[in-house]
Amino acid sequence: MNDASNSGRPEGEPASLWVATAGTTNYPVLPSDLEVDVAVIGAGIAGLTAALALKRTGRTVAVIEAARVGTGVTGHTTGKVTSLHRLAYSELLRSHGAETAFIYGQANQSAVEHVAQLVAEEAIDCDFRSVANYTFAETDDALHLVRAEANLAARLGLPAAFTADVPLPFPVKGAVRFDGQAQIHAVKYLHGLARAVDGGSSFVFEQTQAQRIHDGSPAVVDTENGTVRAHDVIVATNVPSGSQGLFSLRCHPHRSYIVAGRADSPPLDATFISVDEPMRSILTASVNGTSYVLTGGEGHRVSESGGSAARYGRLAAFAQDRLRVDNVAYRWSTQDGMPLDGLPYVGPMSPVSKHVHVITGLRKWGLSNGTAAALILTDTLSGRTNPWASVFNSNRITPSASAGRFMKENVKTVAAVLAGKLRGRPSYSELSPGEGTVITVKGESTAVYKDADGQGHAVSATCTHLGCTVGFNAADATWDCPCHGSRFSTDGTVIQGPAAKNLPPAPLP
Ligand SMILES: Cc1cc2nc3c(=O)[nH]c(=O)nc-3n(C[C@H](O)[C@H](O)[C@H](O)COP(=O)(O)OP(=O)(O)OC[C@H]3O[C@@H](n4cnc5c(N)ncnc54)[C@H](O)[C@@H]3O)c2cc1C
Ligand code: FES
Repeated sequence: MNDASNSGRPEGEPASLWVATAGTTNYPVLPSDLEVDVAVIGAGIAGLTAALALKRTGRTVAVIEAARVGTGVTGHTTGKVTSLHRLAYSELLRSHGAETAFIYGQANQSAVEHVAQLVAEEAIDCDFRSVANYTFAETDDALHLVRAEANLAARLGLPAAFTADVPLPFPVKGAVRFDGQAQIHAVKYLHGLARAVDGGSSFVFEQTQAQRIHDGSPAVVDTENGTVRAHDVIVATNVPSGSQGLFSLRCHPHRSYIVAGRADSPPLDATFISVDEPMRSILTASVNGTSYVLTGGEGHRVSESGGSAARYGRLAAFAQDRLRVDNVAYRWSTQDGMPLDGLPYVGPMSPVSKHVHVITGLRKWGLSNGTAAALILTDTLSGRTNPWASVFNSNRITPSASAGRFMKENVKTVAAVLAGKLRGRPSYSELSPGEGTVITVKGESTAVYKDADGQGHAVSATCTHLGCTVGFNAADATWDCPCHGSRFSTDGTVIQGPAAKNLPPAPLP
């Protein structure tokens, strides 16, 4: 959990290629109290897609974003917009049956088409590329799996085929190929959505954190600048804060890492993910005239975090050995909610919620799942029946698919937290610049960090969500909570929930 001992800085600028190359937005802070038809909290793909779809039905919307548009998980994605989610259909067939696998496929393939349609209709300049997406096999066991996935996906009506012809620069045995998929510059895409949302009695507000939500008629969102009253509220904050709906128990955060290296050749019309472990995800892109190869992987539960410098190193080595990319320009990591039963949660925040709706558990495929989720809620709020809604229902009970998993995942979290507490840590005086650790100061568990100039910074080490102890992530210089994945900057500011409050300042030793 603690990277302080790992002083080797990974190669590359520690920033997302997408965030670093998109420019920034400058929407205002919520200036005063406001009334709209729908308040949407969170300007990621789920929130902005829902806001635009609802505005197009004639409703007024207000998007409330704590930071800047596109700087959350979506700004740190790989950028594949696809209904091919590695081996998802075989897994869903096993756990839920053919009907659910079919609906999941329909929802995600419709989402791919919806993104392409919005790019065209709103003239969004987001480096959209139509590509084929491949799940590839390097071993005989994996080959058997991709053949089965290709057959099943084709039977489910998806644009799937098995192929032995895979345009990678290293030998593979075969792959599932989905045609008509896409890739985008996710932040430029979100900037385009925000532009389309803002205006005509609808609004985008930045640097405005939703602090409390009250269900009712109207529903009310409190921020420190004023309240937003609305008929409905959509919570699209990736992971909802607080304990309503118990999503932090039903969904565990999973982190992955990406390195982007500059390439000599133009991008391929294809994106890739491996079946064999360690899993590798590959995408090529041209951004502002420069070609890049992105290599992703090294995923792990947040509660088992640590060694992130080594993880970046392994991705860089793969890019060099297998993809002939011998430099890393950018490196970043992010995390997404993995639902216990493999399906996103979309619908009422809790069984008793009337006007507060949630989108979460996008299982690392949120560019399509988040788009589909937004379309589901648009139908729900418009009184239309949505054919995918019951499969994604936020209050579903699927004991056979999730009960065992629930126990296993939460036991794993507890075990990892205990292991972290027992692990030895360096003292404050032993820290080098760029390192952090958790120590006891005046009886309080304190997260201390030395910046590049050797200046010390201290905040409480007690996560403001449910009280676990945060650990230092040296590669990203963040304080990360092993329990449900909240992340904080070194000054204690929340980067990612479910925590809603910052870590308060604490005295240095
Ligand atoms: C490494 C990695 C690679 C991935 N690659 C892909 C891929 O190639 N294709 C794919 O489909 N999916 C991919 N995913 C998953 C996908 O990126 C996510 O599922 C998706 O971006 C999540 O979108 P979101 O709208 O839920 O969250 P976000 O983009 O995080 O948006 C939520 C927003 O809410 C804001 N917010 C939070 N709390 C508050 C508050 N209290 N008040 C106001 N605002 C608040 C945040 O600041 C943030 O901007 C990947 C995931 C990972 C981890
Ligand atoms: S994220 Fe839940 S206790 Fe920290």
